[in-house]
Amino acid sequence: MEDKETGLLRSVGCSERVIRHVLAVKELALRIAGEVRIPVDRELVRMGALLHDIGRARTHGIEHAVVGAEMARELGVDERLVSIIERHIGAGITAEEARSLGLPARDFVPRTPEEKIVAYADNLISGDRETGFDEALEDFRSIPGIGEGAVERFIRLHQEIEQWKRQ
Ligand SMILES: [Fe+2]
Repeated sequence: MEDKETGLLRSVGCSERVIRHVLAVKELALRIAGEVRIPVDRELVRMGALLHDIGRARTHGIEHAVVGAEMARELGVDERLVSIIERHIGAGITAEEARSLGLPARDFVPRTPEEKIVAYADNLISGDRETGFDEALEDFRSIPGIGEGAVERFIRLHQEIEQWKRQ
């Protein structure tokens, strides 16, 4: 099962460390998808979580999201998955932040529930360990160069997902 899920990642050169991370993100993202009361495409969440860090086969810089999206497109992956990969960094990155980070000057803000759940779950997994929101927020705040706007976006993402669980 796991080989089937991670075979593509191995074939493009992702490390075992990245693979352990994405498997943990997948578990948490699927758990969240099962808890929310809004319609969510669980298969899209599962595949999106598995592929979100595919770009780390080439780079661990912030641009791994853009590189990963390009790799996925070349592999003929569904555009909805390409968007999950491209928008998973931080809790979304605005066009202005993207420019100052040296990324293409467009926004990388997760929009669909599946994009948001993967981005959120990724923030709550440190390596392959689940941290919980408070620790994740502390870690998020300590990222060098992170702005208040980005921190606010992460808090709002948390609140939105908690709200989906109560709906
Ligand atoms: Fe990532």
